[in-house]
Amino acid sequence: MRLNAALLLSLSISIIEVLAAHSVVRRMTDDNLAHGGECGTPYTLKDDEIMKTAFERVERERKQQKRQVNLNPIVFDLHVAVVAANMTYNGGWVPAKHIEDQVKVLNAGYLDAGVSFDLKSVRRILSRRYHDLLNVPETDEQAIMLSNYGKAFRLGDVKTLNVNLIGFTTDPETYGFALPPSFYAEFPEYDGAYIRFDSLPGGASPVRQGSTLIHEVGHWLSLWHTFQNGCEGFGDEISDTPAEAGPATGCPETRDSCPLQPGLDPVWSYMDYSAEGCRVRFSPMQIDRMRTAIDAFRS
Ligand SMILES: *[C@@H]1O[C@H](CO)[C@@H](O)[C@H](O)[C@H]1NC(C)=O
Ligand SMILES: [Zn+2]
Repeated sequence: MRLNAALLLSLSISIIEVLAAHSVVRRMTDDNLAHGGECGTPYTLKDDEIMKTAFERVERERKQQKRQVNLNPIVFDLHVAVVAANMTYNGGWVPAKHIEDQVKVLNAGYLDAGVSFDLKSVRRILSRRYHDLLNVPETDEQAIMLSNYGKAFRLGDVKTLNVNLIGFTTDPETYGFALPPSFYAEFPEYDGAYIRFDSLPGGASPVRQGSTLIHEVGHWLSLWHTFQNGCEGFGDEISDTPAEAGPATGCPETRDSCPLQPGLDPVWSYMDYSAEGCRVRFSPMQIDRMRTAIDAFRS
């Protein structure tokens, strides 16, 4: 019997694909301490550890060279992919105006951080499957789908922000997710922010009008949720966002969900789930961490 080389090759490629997908799923689910609700970005111990190690290295270098955190303006290239089920608004075919306004809102959100995003392209991809089903890779099937999507459509390198407007059709509670910078070295094709097309300014969402992308890009630049780890331990590892027991809804400005810890809940931070117009800024230490993450991973 003669071996069919093409068949063997395709079998081994799909085995490699499944193994890679499986290691992504393990990273997302085994160590994932808490996520869910509006944002699907996974918190993983592995990513946390990779980032801590990298930040310590950057801080050591800074001390040696007697440098401060670099706050010089930095511009990232931005590519937007509109992933629509059909060519109607409800199918995800968003007007160009929404995208233009979203870029303005995004840049306003990052002004204090000295970070801006330069819109290089808007591509429109007609795929009901991707529009409906792209999501956090928590099953092998989802991981393979997201990886194939990224291999086909992701543009640029680690310094390039790819924003993908999708539907989360089977998961209507979710508004977005993004991969932290620590994920890129092993799994570059997944990198980017994935958000609901109707969360853009002018969009149909009754709850979000542009801050979803600011929030997801915060994850893309290494931030965790302000309520990460609740009232215990290192929280979100940011010293000027007081500990918070869980996500805020609405705008409970005087909520103090961790009364034994100093400070009121940081519902003003983009990294909480508080309402549009309530989460309006990053803290100085959140900015510091993002700028350190840029030095460590995205420059
Ligand atoms: C487009 O897709 C949306 C979302 O799935 C659906 O509600 C709508 O009926 C579709 N419209 C057409 C013309 O196919
Ligand atoms: Zn989030």
